[in-house]
Amino acid sequence: MIFEIENLNFEYSSHIVLKDLNLSVLKGEFFSIIGPNGTGKSTLLRLMAGFLKPSRGNIKFMGYHLQKFNPLELARKRAFVSQDNFINFPYTAYEIVLMGRFPYLRNFQIETKEDHDIVRSAMEKTSTTHIATRSITDLSGGERQRVMIAKALAQNPSVLLLDEPTSGLDINYQIDIMDHLRLLNRHEKVTIIMVIHDLNLAGQYSDRILLLSKGRTYATGSPEEVITEQNIEEVFSLKVNIDKEPERGFPRLMLISRVL
Ligand SMILES: Nc1ncnc2c1ncn2[C@@H]1O[C@H](COP(=O)(O)OP(=O)(O)OP(=O)(O)O)[C@@H](O)[C@H]1O
Ligand SMILES: [Mg+2]
Repeated sequence: MIFEIENLNFEYSSHIVLKDLNLSVLKGEFFSIIGPNGTGKSTLLRLMAGFLKPSRGNIKFMGYHLQKFNPLELARKRAFVSQDNFINFPYTAYEIVLMGRFPYLRNFQIETKEDHDIVRSAMEKTSTTHIATRSITDLSGGERQRVMIAKALAQNPSVLLLDEPTSGLDINYQIDIMDHLRLLNRHEKVTIIMVIHDLNLAGQYSDRILLLSKGRTYATGSPEEVITEQNIEEVFSLKVNIDKEPERGFPRLMLISRVL
């Protein structure tokens, strides 16, 4: 078990966001969090990353209370890819990925050959080698996103937490990012936990899905258990038609109309 979350409650000042959430994520899973805007998905991901502290309840990470880890230990075990990766200083892609090695450097230590090898390997796995010397400010959204994933990989994490890694990308880059993440998941055994709005992508790539609604768990389970016509109508107020992809059986969703 990589995450065990018990009775998690979270509020910003007095604004309650997450209520009595229970959740386990297994080692090696490709796990997605879906739900309407403002339901607490990003907040949950930030709690799991250790950036926020629960108001009540408990998050266990790799068997220990998340709060027991110091920031450096955490940075060696989990990496976080945020939605807004805006950087306006012209670092090269390579320099950005190298920053992923910071948690492993001692004070004022120069990066070693091993650090550079890890950076190169992270760039290979994300198909960013050919843009290594380009400035991050000049890359397309999809390229920049892949560089940020490479930086996260350079941290050598057991878990990769990603907040809407495909939003703002065209359909080609969306599939490209998802395929890269699946390769990392299957070949490098990196546990993937992502927030994603596209229900078809979530259904196609995830082992399990959490559907959040108003800060509570509405459903958790396999894509076919969670992405159902009834759940989508109840949570998103949308009438949809869902069929099964013939080969692998994941749900495919077609919008019919809004429920007025
Ligand atoms: N720093 C903050 N201070 C106060 N309230 C916040 C803060 N961040 C988020 N919120 C509120 O908490 C609720 C949940 O926000 P969160 O960002 O977790 O939602 P989300 O599910 O990720 O939404 P989206 O799909 O739009 O990204 C929202 O009502 C939001 O306005
Ligand atoms: Mg969000």
